[in-house]
Amino acid sequence: MGTWSLGSGSDRGHDGAVADDTDPSTPDEPGLRRTTLPDGRVLVIRRATAADVDRMIDFYRSLPLEDRYFRFFTGGLPPRAHFERTVDVATHGGVALVVEVIAGNDVQLVGDACYVPQADGDGELAVTIDPNWRGWLGPYLLDTLLEAAAANGVTTLRAEILVHNRPMLALVRSRGCATIGDDDLSKVRVALGTSTRTPSWPARDARRRILVEAANPRWRNGITKIEPTVSVMVCAGPPSGYRERCPVLAGRPCPLAADADAIVVARSLDEQLGRDLIEAHLQSNPRVPLLVETGVSAADGGPPPDGTHPLSRALSDDEALAAILSAIGESSRDAEPEAV
Ligand SMILES: CC(C)(COP(=O)(O)OP(=O)(O)OC[C@H]1O[C@@H](n2cnc3c(N)ncnc32)[C@H](O)[C@@H]1OP(=O)(O)O)[C@@H](O)C(=O)NCCC(=O)NCCS
Repeated sequence: MGTWSLGSGSDRGHDGAVADDTDPSTPDEPGLRRTTLPDGRVLVIRRATAADVDRMIDFYRSLPLEDRYFRFFTGGLPPRAHFERTVDVATHGGVALVVEVIAGNDVQLVGDACYVPQADGDGELAVTIDPNWRGWLGPYLLDTLLEAAAANGVTTLRAEILVHNRPMLALVRSRGCATIGDDDLSKVRVALGTSTRTPSWPARDARRRILVEAANPRWRNGITKIEPTVSVMVCAGPPSGYRERCPVLAGRPCPLAADADAIVVARSLDEQLGRDLIEAHLQSNPRVPLLVETGVSAADGGPPPDGTHPLSRALSDDEALAAILSAIGESSRDAEPEAV
């Protein structure tokens, strides 16, 4: 690495300066870093070990209560066993990283991040940065964690984020994520791709997969409660001006769309984006039933485009779910080989 590369694309340093020197001993292992900061201190991201437990406890004890609440969903400090399990997560296929700043003999722990492997093949992530080091280190550390997960063959990391945790929500949204359908209004559950801006469906999850293209991340979020055998991911689409970040619009395969059992476009057809998404899905994913929500705006009164199923916004959640499952059923019947 010749320059100090921040994975998120940010070029801010701790004090606003851009570092121009990288320690030549930068570790090669994915997710690990060793970098000289502009003021001469050395920033290290390395795997956590059992020797870090006490310092992690001190670190979390020193944080404002709100930060602990955001990280652990309780203002209190978790028991020591929690930190012992965290540093040991690598033995279960996960990764735990700590960030240190070294100045001579003084070594300060300024952040940590980890992911814990889940039964369905995804990982559950968490990250915390010392308040004095926020402003760039969060995205930098998140990217190193994603890199380490990708190297372990994990394609998607999930995070459960309290709705008031605006910095973390901004962080995952800037990285590109989909929202997992959930009726818990106190939290947002998101999925991030580890090596692409689009996550994938969990490898070991037999539920039927519904991808929803909608501006509202809580689109019909009661559906998964009604029918637990259904899994919903909501994609908000690319930020305006960044259409190429949406693989479907850019003509590239989208793992969420290609592996879905049904796709719902719940965007106003008055907008170019809504019309383009329909067109792109019909072209790229012709075998996946495509439902188009009607009545999203006053002008959406016309028939749905050819090759799509209408899904009226006026339907109850039960009725909408039945319509989606019926479209899935029709398409699987269509796909059945003819009897000979
Ligand atoms: C979440 C956390 C790791 C982010 O790290 P960070 O170094 O602060 O990251 P940033 O400073 O780049 O902030 C992330 C984004 O939040 C935005 N942000 C920061 N403070 C904000 C606030 N009070 N309200 C809204 N957005 C805010 C930033 O502008 C940035 O968005 P941008 O990329 O669009 O500019 C850090 O805030 C933290 O440790 N929080 C406490 C623990 C926690 O919540 N962990 C997550 C549990 S899942």
